[in-house]
Amino acid sequence: MSEVLALKYRPKTFEELIGQDSITQVLTGALNSKRLSHAYLFSGLRGSGKTSTARIFAKALVCDNGPTPKPCEECENCKAANENRHIDIIEMDAASSRKIDDIRDLIEQTKYKPTMARYKIFIIDEVHMLTREAFNALLKTLEEPPEYIKFILATTDPLKLPATILSRTQHFRFKKISESNIKHHLEYILDKEDIKYENEALEMLSRSGNGSLRDTLTLLDQAIIYTKGFIDAKSVADMLGLIDPKYLDKIFNTILKNDKKNLLEIAKDLENYESEVVIDEMIAYLKSSFFNEDVRFSTILYDRFFRILSDAKNLLFINADSGFVLSLVFFKMLEATKLKTIDSIINSLEKGVPQAPSQEQPPLKEKMETVEPTQPQPPKEQPIKTTPTDSEKFKTLIKSIYQKNYKTGECFEKGVFFIKHENNTLELESCASEECKKTLRVASGTIKHLVKDIYGIDTKISMKPCTKKEEIQKDDTEKEEPKIEEKPQEDPASSCVSSHMENPKNDSKSENILDDPFVQKARELFTPKKITIRRKV
Ligand SMILES: Nc1ncnc2c1ncn2[C@@H]1O[C@H](COP(=O)(O)OP(=O)(O)O)[C@@H](O)[C@H]1O
Ligand SMILES: [Mg+2]
Ligand SMILES: [Zn+2]
Repeated sequence: MSEVLALKYRPKTFEELIGQDSITQVLTGALNSKRLSHAYLFSGLRGSGKTSTARIFAKALVCDNGPTPKPCEECENCKAANENRHIDIIEMDAASSRKIDDIRDLIEQTKYKPTMARYKIFIIDEVHMLTREAFNALLKTLEEPPEYIKFILATTDPLKLPATILSRTQHFRFKKISESNIKHHLEYILDKEDIKYENEALEMLSRSGNGSLRDTLTLLDQAIIYTKGFIDAKSVADMLGLIDPKYLDKIFNTILKNDKKNLLEIAKDLENYESEVVIDEMIAYLKSSFFNEDVRFSTILYDRFFRILSDAKNLLFINADSGFVLSLVFFKMLEATKLKTIDSIINSLEKGVPQAPSQEQPPLKEKMETVEPTQPQPPKEQPIKTTPTDSEKFKTLIKSIYQKNYKTGECFEKGVFFIKHENNTLELESCASEECKKTLRVASGTIKHLVKDIYGIDTKISMKPCTKKEEIQKDDTEKEEPKIEEKPQEDPASSCVSSHMENPKNDSKSENILDDPFVQKARELFTPKKITIRRKV
């Protein structure tokens, strides 16, 4: 390989340009309709195709068949443009020729007609580097050049350009090239070069180029040499100072398994890495798991993990101890796998099921009452800690599904039965009607999340065929009426309130509403004020 890949694969036509569709569309439209401006400004990230597009556009203008978006590639003008030796296409690097004298030379040249093409085109790269005097000298020509002159200005920093320049040019903003576009391009190049690769290695390279195709291709050149011909993930991770994707698998599995001991080992292992790199890699890993529908993570878990990782980035930004931040991230993520959702907390409160110890706090009422000198509490006032039985959990599950959607809850309750819960598998029996099956299928994602919340994050569902069809039919006819009556038809969230409000007999119990576990939990979460409202008489 003699030539660097970025130059060897410089696009020569609009079709070969990657990730700049809206720009190519407007430029091709302009060429087709011959509505051409005399000055263009291309701005954007380095290595995103500005110079390449300027050259393609220039060729499109000078081709014998042009102006055309599809230059013939055969005429003398096209050939000279492709070989970068066209006498009427003048490239100038404003980073090295930035003085007023350089611009005066350029203005002098605009006075002479083109030698072989219909236009004389000036491509001025890094135009923001020109001095103020040079800009001022250019201004007049830029505004009213002879009709055979075209300017294409390119810059990575358009904010440094004076407004006078911006207002005299048609501005095209080049975008960062997306990771997936970059990865496809790498695959295309490696296939052409007959070099084998691992998918994950290309993912890492595409990420590391940060949207610049030139930078990515430079990294690819480096990787080809470093990996001696087979571009594998481990070597690329080494080369880029990133973490091997297999190691990331290990980190997340250890977190999901709640394995504190090994997590500490991992945190020590990673001391050699930049914490920020580890966190970025973990975010990238989660993002790719999300799009690959990785069953190990629920949406809630993605949300929690992302928040923890983003918080960590903020901590690193304020220069917190980076090694410690990383260990903290791991352990916060581990805890996050155990936290319950608000829904399941409310459910268990409604059912009177006590929470996991980490969530238990004395209810507000008790706190307020401790104004009296503390006395040894009689044992009966302590909350009784029990773990919910399988059947209680199943009832909680049914209730949670009802709360998400009443119809799904109904289908689930009538058609799905608990068999057992063993080895992280919840075995259920499905006797649902065809219509209910459809409803349940649509809600399967939600049901899976609720199962994970209630039975644990690793729980899988195993659905067995129905063994009690007849029993159900009989049950259905016998129990349908009372069952419907039992179910609250209104918004389930309001159930604890409505039971007190609808029935006048309950007025006398209004004092007791404060003892309702649901209300107690609300009092823990907020700072309540008691307001007494009296009717006017
Ligand atoms: N949009 C793109 N499509 C295809 N290749 C690109 C693109 N952008 C950059 N490249 C690759 O990067 C190299 C440098 O691109 P260049 O056009 O000089 O970028 P810029 O002028 O924006 O810095 C090109 O030779 C090409 O290999
Ligand atoms: Mg350039
Ligand atoms: Zn041509």
